[in-house]
Amino acid sequence: MQTLFTQEQIQIKVQELAKQIAADSKNIFCLVVLKGAIVFFSDLIRELSKLDVQVEFDIIQLSSYIKKEFSGEVKIKKDIENIENKDVLIVEDIVDTGHSLTFLKDYLLNKKAKSVRICSLLSKPDRREKQVEVDYLGFIIPNKFVVGYGIDYQEKHRELPFIATID
Ligand code: IMP
Ligand code: MG
Repeated sequence: MQTLFTQEQIQIKVQELAKQIAADSKNIFCLVVLKGAIVFFSDLIRELSKLDVQVEFDIIQLSSYIKKEFSGEVKIKKDIENIENKDVLIVEDIVDTGHSLTFLKDYLLNKKAKSVRICSLLSKPDRREKQVEVDYLGFIIPNKFVVGYGIDYQEKHRELPFIATID
């Protein structure tokens, strides 16, 4: 396991993201994508609070049944309450192929969200199969598998305070 971002580097990045979000809105509705994004989200809302942003949130859980060769079909494991007319900010851990967020954005717009923006801590652009616009992005990372800070490998390593790559 090799450290990619330390606790301090992550903290600084979360503060920067909170500033960008706060500059755009003082009242937001977040949709947190389980499970990977919860550690990021819990740090992010406390930074937002320091900047006088009021936050409401709901949670959603997706599962992707990747068939042979990535035809990435995404399903909802835990659904959300009514989001009609809300300006939604999706909070995600990683944008990888882009299938999950493309699906989720369409899903929310179909449910009549007023607008949908995306905040993701990490992005692996080399892996992208579906283009998705990330409004608030933390770090661009290479095509490596990462764990820690909520992100898992087979449900392990979520508790690490830093982000590391594993082979
Ligand atoms: P996408 O639909 O391929 O963009 O999948 C995104 C999801 O895959 C992320 O939200 C993560 O849950 C998971 N994922 C992608 N890359 C990694 C990784 O390096 N470590 C752990 N989970 C990952
Ligand atoms: Mg995720």
